[in-house]
Amino acid sequence: MNIPPATQINRDVIGSPIEDLDTPALLLDGPASARNISRMAEFFRNRKSQLRPHFKNHKCTIIARRQLAAGSAVGITCAKLGEAEVLADAGIDDVLIANQLVGRRKLARLVELAGKINLKVAVDDIRQITAISEAASAAGVTVGILVEVDIGMNRCGVEPGEPAFQLAGEIRKLPGLRFDGIQAYEGHVVYNDDPVERAELLRKDMQQAIDTRRLIEDRGIPVGVISGGSSSTYNVTGLLEGVDEIQAGTYPTMDWCYARLAPEFEIALSVLARVISTQAGRAVLDVGLKGATAEFGLPRIKGHPEVELPTFTSEEHCIAPNGPGWRVGDTAELLPSHACTTCNLYRRMYVHEEGRVVDVWPIEGSGRLA
Ligand SMILES: Cc1ncc(COP(=O)(O)O)c(C=O)c1O
Repeated sequence: MNIPPATQINRDVIGSPIEDLDTPALLLDGPASARNISRMAEFFRNRKSQLRPHFKNHKCTIIARRQLAAGSAVGITCAKLGEAEVLADAGIDDVLIANQLVGRRKLARLVELAGKINLKVAVDDIRQITAISEAASAAGVTVGILVEVDIGMNRCGVEPGEPAFQLAGEIRKLPGLRFDGIQAYEGHVVYNDDPVERAELLRKDMQQAIDTRRLIEDRGIPVGVISGGSSSTYNVTGLLEGVDEIQAGTYPTMDWCYARLAPEFEIALSVLARVISTQAGRAVLDVGLKGATAEFGLPRIKGHPEVELPTFTSEEHCIAPNGPGWRVGDTAELLPSHACTTCNLYRRMYVHEEGRVVDVWPIEGSGRLA
């Protein structure tokens, strides 16, 4: 039997109505996503702070290149070395891995990549930087380093102030490293539903990173950037004096959960599903937890806000009350609660416009977890 590779792109579907696609299929409303990208680029036009869009949202290099081409962007952010490799292969030459990279094999890949592109990585421990320094100097390359400062998310990051200054000083002493600035992500306020409270909290917490910058600079070490921000905080964080880069992720695709936080962006991502059974008032769709993630809530159904999926969703099925009167073979678009983990489940997305497939884009970063 001839099994096509998982990444194979079937372009024959271009021009067909989306309902003709084999299901489940990841769909992207092309014009809506393009409007999201230009709206965000427009916000940053002629501003001091600029975008560094986060690849973890869509993991698709065509979208990343479109984000850069829209302007107001200095490079791309990603979370994983495997994503940075994919970006470099696509010709994107300024990449921040906003995460700590640890492990001998990983560092060998890191320094190989640093020989090809302007690569920066976040750190919060002397052990990470000595290991990167050893690998980088053995390879004869320089790796850009951002000290991650924990401004309240309690994930990675040193305490603001003195500990960040100490780490910056160590980085400056070690060969193969270039101290580029501070990584500070306000992830603990991004999902705050109240925009006024969200803005207040993030101004207060981001100030810790700005004060840390001043402290380091006052002691004679230049700080190139503070990099942080998100799709729900860009319009506050992006205006703070001292913050240079905004790592907004979700805005090209959006999802129903994020739509309440940043309603100025349109939900462009959906999963096309097909009704495969209708028994006893139920409609069973051919998408389950392996096709649409549910950690922020179950998917909603586009055009049918009244249909609530029951809490039970299995690996390959979701079961809806058949209020809309679906028949076997009908299709429905599911709107995921979390676009970023849903894109990671697919190898390609079908771009559509006015109900027809207009392109098929590979999701090269999907599954690149290491
Ligand atoms: C380091 C970092 N920066 C920025 C973001 C912002 O992404 P989004 O715009 O999707 O909230 C995230 C989200 O996970 C992140 O982890």
